[in-house]
Amino acid sequence: MSTLARKLLIAGNWKMNLNSAEASELADSIVNQVGTQMEVAVCICPTFTSLEAVSKRVVDSNIGLGAQNMHFENSGAFTGEISAEMLRHLFVSYVIIGHSERRDYFNEDDNLVNQKTIAALEASLKPIVCIGETLNERDSGQLESVIHRQLEGALLGVSPNHADQLVIAYEPVWAIGTGKTATPEDAESVHSFIRKLLSDILGIEAANKVRILYGGSMKPENAEALLSQKNIDGGLIGGASLKAHAFTSIVDSAIKLSS
Ligand code: PGA
Repeated sequence: MSTLARKLLIAGNWKMNLNSAEASELADSIVNQVGTQMEVAVCICPTFTSLEAVSKRVVDSNIGLGAQNMHFENSGAFTGEISAEMLRHLFVSYVIIGHSERRDYFNEDDNLVNQKTIAALEASLKPIVCIGETLNERDSGQLESVIHRQLEGALLGVSPNHADQLVIAYEPVWAIGTGKTATPEDAESVHSFIRKLLSDILGIEAANKVRILYGGSMKPENAEALLSQKNIDGGLIGGASLKAHAFTSIVDSAIKLSS
């Protein structure tokens, strides 16, 4: 079980799925099943077009609302973009930054991830900053250098005072949507490496406050083994978050480990 005061966080990344009616329905089911428990932090991240509808469904519950991306400027001539301020207006509290799909398909680099992370923190959002290696990088012995570069890049200029707000998601790219999961031991070894890097970057006290989520084919069958690792403080869940029962089973595993 995670030690210290880090409350486990189970975050659902709905990606580009569900219209606002479908998203509201899924949100209702999740609220009904795990909306009142307090042991574990839960958040769901629908598309931008469903945020307002889902916001109304989760408002009286303990389910937090997250977005999947944002721009780092507050407003202006950035056609097609959404700012932190606009998200806050819809009671969004989390935002996924630098997901591997954004890095891969939309050319987001460490510098952009850094600008977005800083803007999110300044707007009092909790950024879920995604890092992770490809299979090629892992096989060629670059795992640690890739994680190091991505983490240091994302956190350039971030103050240790923001550690409570900061969430890192370790998502090995080869495990996303593939059904292949890192073993709990392999994941834990990367998570503890990330904790050490955080300590070098932010100091040990701040590093112990940052939640490090695992993402990549987490599902009810493997959640408990992953979440019971010392440095795994929750999960970022894609495919399994689109089914209320699968998602809430993962939340239940986290509750079990937290009580
Ligand atoms: P997955 O996606 O659970 O479908 O592997 C995780 C993610 O991309 O955040």
